[in-house]
Amino acid sequence: MRSAGETSRKTGLILGIESSCDETAASVVRGGTEALSNVVASQMNLHANYGGVVPELASREHLRNIVPVVREAMSRAGVGFEDLDAIAVTEGPGLAGALLVGITYAKALTLGFEKPLIGVNHLEGHIHAVLMEARQRAEQPMELPLLALVVSGGHTHLYLGEQRDLAEQRGEGAWRYRNVGRTVDDAAGEAYDKVAKLLGLGYPGGPWIDALAKRGNPQAVPFRFAQIKPRVSRDGVEPKNKKAPPRTEGPSFDFSFSGIKTAVLRYIETHGMREAVAARRARLAEHPEWTPGSEEAAALCDQQTLDLIASFQYAVVGNLLRQSFAAAETFGARGIVVSGGVAANSELRQRFRAEADRRGLAVAFPSLALSTDNAAMIAAAAWQKLVMGDFADDGLGPAPQLRLGGV
Ligand code: KG4
Ligand code: ZN
Repeated sequence: MRSAGETSRKTGLILGIESSCDETAASVVRGGTEALSNVVASQMNLHANYGGVVPELASREHLRNIVPVVREAMSRAGVGFEDLDAIAVTEGPGLAGALLVGITYAKALTLGFEKPLIGVNHLEGHIHAVLMEARQRAEQPMELPLLALVVSGGHTHLYLGEQRDLAEQRGEGAWRYRNVGRTVDDAAGEAYDKVAKLLGLGYPGGPWIDALAKRGNPQAVPFRFAQIKPRVSRDGVEPKNKKAPPRTEGPSFDFSFSGIKTAVLRYIETHGMREAVAARRARLAEHPEWTPGSEEAAALCDQQTLDLIASFQYAVVGNLLRQSFAAAETFGARGIVVSGGVAANSELRQRFRAEADRRGLAVAFPSLALSTDNAAMIAAAAWQKLVMGDFADDGLGPAPQLRLGGV
């Protein structure tokens, strides 16, 4: 096998594989920058009937899709397996059975073609999706330290990305991450999905709320966020909520989204909106072809509902914005990177850009195609690891609770 330095100088071709949740994805990326292909088989329609991802169904679909998706990614990129320098795969966090499909196939390929295997943290992938595209646009590279907000259906995390000093780098990649904020209960995308469900809208809820919020008054319902008490794990006391990972030392900027979901439910009940919700749900079930931005979908909502939707979104985005910029200021970040499914949100993009401009900070988002789960981000995040020779061994297995920058 060739050494990492030799291979990366030649072509730097990495096949990335992602199967952590409900998307089976494969992509070939050259040199951590140029995506030669990016294939995603989404299971969204399958899970839509259940209002959320069903783990057993997800694994079965990944099994069905993994071989054709990888084949398609290789053929669109116009490369053969023997041309690859490495195969990278998401090792976690995610659903154990779903991760296992991607990892097993990636391992089989690395054994069959004698290529190195690279394990990638899904969250680091989301961050690198943005950095990869910033490099493609030949913008000023984002300077470290960087604050990354990863905000999706499963995560709402703030990370500080810092440069490791050279002595630390051996086998570890060039970056160090510190988790400086996370949700203590629901993820922001989960709140979008649950509130959309409460309102009888489609799944996933984010695109529905995003489209309909444009028609409502964001000031109509004044939702408020409670201050989250700082975590106390430093002195050995674990937070009560087991979903919440322990913090790293220093100030933290946490989130909580379950309260606003309950507030929306209470609003629906106290304003006699239940029947309208049920009617909307039934109409949408009859018309699965109606898209979130369609006139038909908007016509299903009266002004009170549109105002509620707009107010929910205004409050959630405001909360994400306040915590992110406060953290960036505290840690002296040079820029902010937002990624994950909720980074597709139009109000979030617009308000983050405006605030970053006001403060003279750089801000970057992924293109819509790379906002949601994909494998180009996995191959991009693997690039540094290829260069540093940070390879996985045969023992690589699914790590459903894998953390980035945890304790
Ligand atoms: O990153 P992702 O594809 O999967 C993971 O959860 O890892 O994110 C999916 C989440 C869903 O909760 C979905 O409702 C949300 O991203 N989402 C959005 C938008 N598009 C997708 N949330 C707000 N606005 C959007 N436009
Ligand atoms: Zn994701």
